[in-house]
Amino acid sequence: MAIGEIWRMTRTVEQVLGKRTIAAVRRPIEKAGGLPGSAYTSQEFFELEQTKLFPRTWMGVGFASDIPKPGDAIPVMVGKLPIILVRNKKGEIKAFHNVCRHRASLVLMEPQSGLSNLTCPYHAWAWDLDGDLKAIPYFDGTKSSSNTNFDRCKLGLVPVRCAVWHHWIFVNLDGKAPPIKKYVKPFHDLINGADIGATSMSTRLDWDFDANWKFQNDNWEVYHHFWVHGGIFRKMSEDLNMKTGEPWTESLQEDDGFVTLKARKGRPRRRDTGGKGDVKNPLPPIPLARGKERTLSTSILFPNVTITMMDNYIASVIADPIAPDRTVTKLGFFFADPAAKGKKHAPARKQVLDRWLGKSRSSTGRDGIRSQDFEIWEAQQIARQSPVADDVVFSPVWESNVHHFQKQLLDTMLG
Ligand code: FES
Ligand SMILES: [Fe+2]
Repeated sequence: MAIGEIWRMTRTVEQVLGKRTIAAVRRPIEKAGGLPGSAYTSQEFFELEQTKLFPRTWMGVGFASDIPKPGDAIPVMVGKLPIILVRNKKGEIKAFHNVCRHRASLVLMEPQSGLSNLTCPYHAWAWDLDGDLKAIPYFDGTKSSSNTNFDRCKLGLVPVRCAVWHHWIFVNLDGKAPPIKKYVKPFHDLINGADIGATSMSTRLDWDFDANWKFQNDNWEVYHHFWVHGGIFRKMSEDLNMKTGEPWTESLQEDDGFVTLKARKGRPRRRDTGGKGDVKNPLPPIPLARGKERTLSTSILFPNVTITMMDNYIASVIADPIAPDRTVTKLGFFFADPAAKGKKHAPARKQVLDRWLGKSRSSTGRDGIRSQDFEIWEAQQIARQSPVADDVVFSPVWESNVHHFQKQLLDTMLG
């Protein structure tokens, strides 16, 4: 590696972005600038996110239903770090660095079920599902390796702080983030106690797109709906009061890592967006305590989880940043019990899934909300390589969430 490259890879966030850019992002929205193109396109900024952003947050890494039974395990990535998620014999979800303590191979290469141990494929070192080292076969030339003199207790799989909140699994790599309950509290309060525990996973997909993971959060506005999702949001009036020009949603931002769009009272409701539905067996609503008012919202749990709460379903995305220009998304759809499974509610579920995933059910189909957004983000990824892309502006009416996310990103990375 050339000296110049090494120097570039060790620069700070301030050096990479420049004080002027940072100050511009931090200005009030009317005068603010946005993150420059390099924050989306450069390997250097992506490396900085590995050290200054992802470890400091609760990163969403999967859904609890990805490993439903004791002995189930999956490998996941947090940025460039390989992690194992495993359900132990007691049914608890644990996370470990997916790095063998012998000579650092991946321990788990693919999802597995029915495990009693995690066994490295290279020389078969094995750990129980709580990460304790159990076997180092033939290490000292004997079957049981009883002559080895090192302390096996010190060679457990390295644990990662992990928390499960309803359907979502989070990890916090530096161990210093506030407790998960505090992290999700603004969201919990927003939804007025809607009983997420009474919902179950119906549909789970992995879709990827060729663009930076931050575009998902930058897209946390409804300004684009009419143009990008024209076939789905058929009238502008779903997002905007046509008489006054005001949005039908409010942007809410909390300093502790929470951004949301909340439907305003009076917003017209399409029948297939979570209202009563127009199929024979409409979906049951997500239970709410008596006297509580339902809040329709779509939120970001900073940095990489989105949750859309409708009357009778939840649509969620966990974004896995794989490279500056590549993101895998874990898509999950949850319905109030017993509507997540079974024939009775299949037509109603289909109606919801058609809206989000398109009838094509394809990430390149461009006929559902998700893939239509991907197309725009991939276009932004190309445009962001231009120096002209450093100069962006935000609508104070529609895009305060986008601005908030970018400030939040900088505050976390500079903190
Ligand atoms: S590298 Fe894993 S057992 Fe040798
Ligand atoms: Fe969109």
